[in-house]
Amino acid sequence: MKTAQIWTEARVHALREITPTVREITLKPTNGALPHQAGGHLQLQVLVNQGAVARPHTRSYSLIGQPDGTFYRFAVKRLDEGRGGSKAMWQLAVGDRLQISEPQNHFPLDLAAPAYLLVAGGIGVTPLVGMAQLLAQLGAKVQMLFGARSEAELAYLKPLQAVLKDGLKTAIAEKGEYLNFESEIAQLPPKALMYVCGPVPMLDAARRAWTKAGRPLADLRYETFGSSGRFAPQAFRVKIPRHNLDITVPADNGLLDELEMAGVQAMYDCRRGECGLCAMDVLAVDGEIDHRDVFLSDEEKASNKRICVCVSRVVGEITLDSAYRADA
Ligand code: FES
Repeated sequence: MKTAQIWTEARVHALREITPTVREITLKPTNGALPHQAGGHLQLQVLVNQGAVARPHTRSYSLIGQPDGTFYRFAVKRLDEGRGGSKAMWQLAVGDRLQISEPQNHFPLDLAAPAYLLVAGGIGVTPLVGMAQLLAQLGAKVQMLFGARSEAELAYLKPLQAVLKDGLKTAIAEKGEYLNFESEIAQLPPKALMYVCGPVPMLDAARRAWTKAGRPLADLRYETFGSSGRFAPQAFRVKIPRHNLDITVPADNGLLDELEMAGVQAMYDCRRGECGLCAMDVLAVDGEIDHRDVFLSDEEKASNKRICVCVSRVVGEITLDSAYRADA
């Protein structure tokens, strides 16, 4: 359950392979593209196959580059173990139509800082491309760290090199390279901002280095994606006694989607494990919760009393109470 979303139609205008596992999709909205800010994203409705049935799901993708008034561009990583949304997006062909939201932004770029450190992990580079371009255009002091599994997976490397020049440093995991947060953070002036987008373990490492350097957490801005858990996705059982519900969440779909399909009204906003709005009370767990959010603290995660149902999963079985509201 989310505040009313206005959906409009868009057509797939072009498809482009950016890396072996990342495809860029250009959409042409029927009524023209609205301006979007650096860090902004679109929500899309995709049909995901579940058994013999295709069900609509909402997915969120960062918009790439600067607005041009005609097109929206975003990139989708093919996740073989994902929730099915990426597979559905990879099946899109030029001319296909789909429903999209207006551009939104949960990761706004503050233009008043004396310097910026952008940190990208893999497909997390997407919101940072537009940020790097805008900051370079404005003559801001900007550095970027970009980590990927292999050289071929450094998406948008050329446009980033074009604007950042020597300010871009890459690290390739399969070569044993790593992002040196400490040394980059040490070179930043006071009040500099760090923008991070990538998997949760990378964000955790960046956050540790940031706080160790004595920097205020308010100056660390991040967006993440909940696809990186400790366990490969597998089916798990969910019971909600309040609703007399007993369902199985399949390996290729998320808990929030399944709850909604079962008629459970769950609150949510970001669907990326950041805002905490979807957190539910855990009554019992037989197995392990794979917490994939960045909202709950380490202590809360260890206590297993709440779960962010938009991204987190379970190995085993869980019993939830859907009535919990964090701010009630
Ligand atoms: S909807 Fe924001 S954390 Fe789940």
